[in-house]
Amino acid sequence: MTLQIVYASRNGVTRECVQMLASHFSSNFEIRLIDIEKDEPDLDEGNFVVGGPIRYGKLYKPVRNFIKANAKRLQDRVIGVFLCSGLPGMAQEYKRKVFPSAWLERAPFGDFGGELKPDKLKGMDKMVVKMVRAQILQEEADIPADDNDFSRALPEIVPENIERFALALKRDLLEKRSGN
Ligand SMILES: Cc1cc2nc3c(=O)[nH]c(=O)nc-3n(C[C@H](O)[C@H](O)[C@H](O)COP(=O)(O)O)c2cc1C
Repeated sequence: MTLQIVYASRNGVTRECVQMLASHFSSNFEIRLIDIEKDEPDLDEGNFVVGGPIRYGKLYKPVRNFIKANAKRLQDRVIGVFLCSGLPGMAQEYKRKVFPSAWLERAPFGDFGGELKPDKLKGMDKMVVKMVRAQILQEEADIPADDNDFSRALPEIVPENIERFALALKRDLLEKRSGN
């Protein structure tokens, strides 16, 4: 039973996350990673997981276009959706905004976290990430805290969420395989 994981990644973080996701499946599962900017999915069969990074409050365009074109067609075969994003506490809101509600009724959601690392970026992306980091750290500084508390509020990939998401997908695939 194939699982096609459809994604796109502007700066590589989402790619790293889907590779982590795939590493949780043994060879009993046929997992295909589909970078929608260069690979062709087989839309006629199998199960799908779909997701990508949030940029400027929206899902990265290649994934957004894929969802728009295939929302109905894949409705009964999307078994999971996921996002990479940088702003703390926003993932649930983004989820409702970017995925069709018919998908969300049955598909579990993975909040994979994300990275805001300017040194890895160029041009406009670098500037924006610097600004967002400064904003997040400023908001943190506004919260009254111990003078010796330099806690980190900057986002990271959350491997535990990826693992829990993989477990839910495996359970679903095994149930499907046994015909339940
Ligand atoms: C130009 C730019 C805009 C972004 N806008 C948002 C945003 O609006 N909300 C958010 O939560 N994260 C935002 N992020 C953070 C990304 O979602 C995060 O860096 C993610 O890990 C990027 O994944 P990618 O490397 O696969 O492109 C932005 C990042 C960049 C570079």
